[in-house]
Amino acid sequence: MTTPLIDPFARAINYLRVSVTDRCDFRCLYCMSENMTFLPKAELLTLEELDRMCSAFIGMGVQKLRITGGEPLVRKGIMTFFQAMSRHLDSGALTELTLTTNGSQLRRFARDLVDCGVRRINVSLDTLDEAKFARVTRWGRLAQVLDGIAAAQEAGLRIKINAVALAGFNEDEQFTLTDWCAREGHDLTWIEVMPMGDLGNEDRIDQYWSLRDLRARYAERFTVTDLAERTGGPARYVRLEETGQKIGFITPLTHNFCESCNRVRLTCTGELYMCLGQEDMADLRAPLRASADNAQLDQAIRNAIARKPKGHDFDYSRQKVAGQMSRHMSHTGG
Ligand code: GTP
Ligand code: 5AD
Ligand code: SF4
Repeated sequence: MTTPLIDPFARAINYLRVSVTDRCDFRCLYCMSENMTFLPKAELLTLEELDRMCSAFIGMGVQKLRITGGEPLVRKGIMTFFQAMSRHLDSGALTELTLTTNGSQLRRFARDLVDCGVRRINVSLDTLDEAKFARVTRWGRLAQVLDGIAAAQEAGLRIKINAVALAGFNEDEQFTLTDWCAREGHDLTWIEVMPMGDLGNEDRIDQYWSLRDLRARYAERFTVTDLAERTGGPARYVRLEETGQKIGFITPLTHNFCESCNRVRLTCTGELYMCLGQEDMADLRAPLRASADNAQLDQAIRNAIARKPKGHDFDYSRQKVAGQMSRHMSHTGG
């Protein structure tokens, strides 16, 4: 292995999130607009190029690889890519190969994922109400996702449910979702909605539900203990003592976690975003294609890491959104 990737704020970059497609079979309100235009296929990195790109990062000390999208499981041939990445688990270079999914394709792919060494997945699910699910995803079927989650569980995958906390939408489901996760044996993580995407008539301030408030509601019913453990991602965890349940909080707004950032994001066209909440990105596709040896690519990666910013500028205080990004969340997969 060559020298590890260290950014200007002395943060070691060992977590790569790779968006393998910008497409998705849903259109979640806070993630995409209804009429998205998707990239033409010719723009995408091929699966072989994605392999080369990820392997270059792994050669520079990336130990955790999370596959995202859009919806990663709608990319054609994606299991070939997972299979290819599993060699880095076998060699010990990767400690974790995982994905964030909307769950719709899990019935088809759960077993293959396990065969490729995936042990734990994150599934986005904001509501257990069929009509609300159809509304937030614009047309998704809740039953299909629940069936996918069941398939993943049968296949032996550990499941973390990601719920975006949305004012006026799932506030009334805090305990329904919590109880369901406890019954099913899934972890649950809540996420503060970030001001990304072409908002149109939607206003993120109206959608925003602070996790401070959500936590206070837990505290009214349970003894809430902070846990020191982290999973290499941005979530902080608590335990509800009465049930032993672990709940995660991703709080870019109320409790920024940028000082411990360890990750960068690669898009399906080979752009590297050094921060979710900043526009700056580096094109890695050109250096990748320029030569079959990785010298130019490796240098481009190091140059990009050297400009990783300190953090995002998201802020909803004073009743206006600051730090808003026109880029959709689906572009970088969260
Ligand atoms: P774990 O390995 O389970 O800890 O995963 P993770 O939380 O890193 O990944 P996941 O894909 O489940 O991310 C959940 C949410 O956290 C998504 O909405 C992401 O947008 C958000 N998130 C992940 N990383 C960052 C980050 O670096 N900055 C910000 N602001 N949000 C992030
Ligand atoms: N704010 C917070 N989380 C978001 N996600 C998508 N868009 C947003 C947003 N604007 C979440 C999804 C998924 C993860 C990849 O990102 O629900 O869990
Ligand atoms: Fe890292 Fe940027 Fe996320 Fe902050 S917002 S944790 S710096 S990627």
